[in-house]
Amino acid sequence: MEITSFGVIGSGSMGNGIAQVAAQAGYDVTVFDISESQLDKAWATLQKSLAKLHEKGKLKEAPQDVLKRLKKTTRLEELKSCQFVVEAASENREIKFKLFRDLDSILPSGVILATNTSSISVTEIASKTNRPELVAGMHFMNPVPLMTLVEGIRGLQTSDDCFRIVRGVAENMGKIFIEAKDSPGFVVNRILIPMINEAFFALAEGLATAKDIDTGLKLGCNFPMGPLELADFVGIDICFAVCEVLHRDLGDSKYRPAPLMRKYVEAGWLGRKTGKGVYVY
Ligand code: 3HC
Repeated sequence: MEITSFGVIGSGSMGNGIAQVAAQAGYDVTVFDISESQLDKAWATLQKSLAKLHEKGKLKEAPQDVLKRLKKTTRLEELKSCQFVVEAASENREIKFKLFRDLDSILPSGVILATNTSSISVTEIASKTNRPELVAGMHFMNPVPLMTLVEGIRGLQTSDDCFRIVRGVAENMGKIFIEAKDSPGFVVNRILIPMINEAFFALAEGLATAKDIDTGLKLGCNFPMGPLELADFVGIDICFAVCEVLHRDLGDSKYRPAPLMRKYVEAGWLGRKTGKGVYVY
């Protein structure tokens, strides 16, 4: 079956990036969000991103032609005609479980339901549906239009056919696909988040200033961003939540979140999105 119609749940930074890249790949995309104003914000971001990519020659097609393949809605029923859906709603278990129950009851039985979860068990999400063999993880990286990786996650029940289609869709979107087991944090966050957490321990100990910690990793390891700068970029609340999942679900004290990271979350200093995190924006 050739996939032509693509659904995205959630229009935050991940959802709108996924929708954009899917439309760039030629899919007809419907984006669902409960908030109309969030959808409008997503559309503004999308337009800016498409214009930028076009200006740099990374997008050959005219941005307005890509936009014609994108539709927004606040009614989940409008995803009925989608053949492939990626969920990128808030990283909250109950929200995701409800969405998967609802999607399962609305969408025809053969439709694949992928989740962009960064830490919740794909196996558990799949168990909320009557088609667990058609549920898989599809973990995109932020910013989606620029980052080449998609981490594919097989739940315990994911079928080979489903996983093959998920890989095909990711590759059609111009992404490199790696396969990870359904274990807390999968591959990327299992390694990235403890590094960011360690940077907060180092900062709290006064090992070096934030700027020097970041410069150390940038120039010493050729990372595009230092770990603290990256925490601000991803959202300190998100890093903290993944850290808590690693700590709880792997049961190893080496994953304990740095108390300083918790304090930043309590203060509402979440990074770029709040104008203040480790740095001020
Ligand atoms: N769409 C289109 N263009 C964009 C864009 C977007 N979404 N975001 C940035 N750009 C453009 C910028 O406007 C800029 O254009 P210019 O050269 O004309 O000014 C260009 O891309 C380069 O951006 P910058 O100059 O700001 O900076 P960089 O060259 O450093 O590139 C970056 C930006 C690609 C974000 C790079 O800093 C980077 O790779 N950072 C690390 C990102 C990373 O590690 N992401 C993974 C996070 S973990 C994750 O997502 C998992 C989750 O589960 C936690």
